[in-house]
Amino acid sequence: MSDESRHHRTAVVIPAAGRGVRLGPGAPKALRALNGTPMLVHAVRAMAASRAVSLVVVVAPPDGAPEVKRLLDAHALPERTDYLVVPGGDSRQESVRLGLEALPDGIDTVLVHDAARPLVPVDTVDAVIEAVREGAVAVVPGLPLADTVKQVEAAAKGEPEPVVATPERATLRAVQTPQGFARDALVRAHETVTGNVTDDASMVEQLGLPVVVVAGHEEAFKVTRPLDLVLAEAVLARRRANDGF
Ligand code: C5P
Repeated sequence: MSDESRHHRTAVVIPAAGRGVRLGPGAPKALRALNGTPMLVHAVRAMAASRAVSLVVVVAPPDGAPEVKRLLDAHALPERTDYLVVPGGDSRQESVRLGLEALPDGIDTVLVHDAARPLVPVDTVDAVIEAVREGAVAVVPGLPLADTVKQVEAAAKGEPEPVVATPERATLRAVQTPQGFARDALVRAHETVTGNVTDDASMVEQLGLPVVVVAGHEEAFKVTRPLDLVLAEAVLARRRANDGF
């Protein structure tokens, strides 16, 4: 990292307030265990693994902030990393906004990272931070697609859906988190953009600001369905076998 970039301060907001209904019944998704440790703790550790990250703001389920605070207090994080827990909202967007409101002065780079991506490697986190520190307004990690993607029209439930377009696969990226931002741009996006969005970068795009993609990582996948839990535990087992993690 350049001398100039060392003066920047970086925080991460982790929205972790979702119920995770697609995973099946049970605790809120972020609190489900992976190899005995809650997914959220893995996600916080993944962010704290970057030496550039000085603060992690966890956005907890609205009624679960004290429980999440106790959980984080009970799991060791590096000394250089502070953390805060705030209650979340009804949508991911609202949860991120509540996390942004909790940021102290002096933070100029903000990452937003889904608790549901607990295994993102530190090199991906650092690559996103580095790109923001070098001047990008918004940076997302992304991967080329294995599948061809069809755009379809809505049809009645159970009926075949008419295809309206096939975007050229080589131009598409499946995007992950952490997504990184110049703080003021992300705050402005959350103050002005309304409507349903599935990531933060698209809000910045709607302001007309440039967003760039850097290389993502296959281990940054989102734990959404039951099979993803099996995959996540397999990744952890391989890491443990390879380097005693
Ligand atoms: O539902 P989805 O998998 O897209 O959620 C992505 C992230 O947003 C998860 O980490 C989830 O906990 C979080 N979320 C939230 N507040 C909500 C809904 C989702 O913090 N109301």
